[in-house]
Amino acid sequence: MGAYKGIVFDLDGVICSTDHYHYLAWKKLADRLGIPFDEQVNNRLRGVSRMASLEIILEKSEKAYTDEEKEAFAQEKNDTYRELLKEMSPKDLTDEVRDTLNELRARGYLLAIGSSSKNTPFILERIGLGDYFDAVSDGNNITHSKPDPEVFLKGAERIGLDPSVCVVVEDAHAGVEGAVRGGFACAAMGDAKDDPRATWHMDSFSDLKKIL
Ligand code: BG6
Ligand code: MG
Repeated sequence: MGAYKGIVFDLDGVICSTDHYHYLAWKKLADRLGIPFDEQVNNRLRGVSRMASLEIILEKSEKAYTDEEKEAFAQEKNDTYRELLKEMSPKDLTDEVRDTLNELRARGYLLAIGSSSKNTPFILERIGLGDYFDAVSDGNNITHSKPDPEVFLKGAERIGLDPSVCVVVEDAHAGVEGAVRGGFACAAMGDAKDDPRATWHMDSFSDLKKIL
């Protein structure tokens, strides 16, 4: 097993492709408000909280909005997002992710989730992983979103391990930063794959079997 004993996984864009649903839901809101929104802006939303994401989107708005209006926009986006999540099923968990998780567990690693999303329990349920992880740390138990390390530190604590023996798996630059700040090794993939702060740069999720 080497130096590591536990793995803390980001959810959206790592375990499943819900990052695309975030994109579609924000795009719908941005289009309605006439605010330019594309994949470049979307990549800046990876790992950051719902309200912080909205603030990034509103940077390109010509109009200023009140706090109440912003709350309503965040709610509207989340309603659209939840409608998309309802369509998910265990088929949305790829064989690659399922097989890799099972192999890592069989090798003795403790497995945790560290996600900024308040929808984490619902998503895990939808994809058939409701009871799978040894611990879940998510947007419901943190006060600071990534790049703050809080969500990972709580995840490691919940599996009883020090960050120095845990690996964080991330697709967001904000998540890589949070992992490094928290004292974790970090395996980066997707949008964050080439982040120079990451310990490993993965082409795909199953690379974890080679790294660990
Ligand atoms: C992160 C996503 O996992 O969760 C972000 O990468 C998202 O894009 C954040 O804003 C919060 O998600 P939710 O589901 O609580 O709106
Ligand atoms: Mg992510």
